[in-house]
Amino acid sequence: MVTDKEPVTGVDYNDLSLSEISEIIRNEYHEHLRDKISELTALSRKIKKEHDSAEIEQIHEQLLSVFDHLAPHMLQEEKVLFPYLEYMEHMVAKGKIPRPPSFGKVKKSVATMLDDHKDSTDKLNALRELTHNYTCPQGCDEDIRHYYNELRALDENLRMHIHLENNVLFKKARLMEEGFAK
Ligand SMILES: [Fe+2]
Ligand SMILES: [Fe+2]
Repeated sequence: MVTDKEPVTGVDYNDLSLSEISEIIRNEYHEHLRDKISELTALSRKIKKEHDSAEIEQIHEQLLSVFDHLAPHMLQEEKVLFPYLEYMEHMVAKGKIPRPPSFGKVKKSVATMLDDHKDSTDKLNALRELTHNYTCPQGCDEDIRHYYNELRALDENLRMHIHLENNVLFKKARLMEEGFAK
């Protein structure tokens, strides 16, 4: 799938440390998503108001449901999980065994995050279907075209964000934990 490709930056994310990857996610993906949540919520409300259409209404509701739990999810990552991963990596680099996290085990917290990601992906899939893969209806006006393009960009960015967490950061973190928690 196109959206699961990593950005063409010449960087192999697997070569980065847990701290470097979590910093990229925080600074580039979380900040961007927070901006987009407020921008797109406002844009979507405006579009819904100006276009009296059942389809637009459905798309608007589906977008709100995509956004629904993202803010607390990102906070949980930033305030609880990522700081522990950084601490764990720091201790392992010094040849020490990290104290266990307040939330039990890395793999337990990661499992909760993976469930949230699955939920977000399901909701994005529904949004993609409702918008016919973000294809603006024939003869649509410029506002709707812009709206669909914004939704497509959100979809691609959020899938990439989830991919970096699931398949790079969390995967490496679980392997690291397995290495000392035997
Ligand atoms: Fe995240
Ligand atoms: Fe996440």
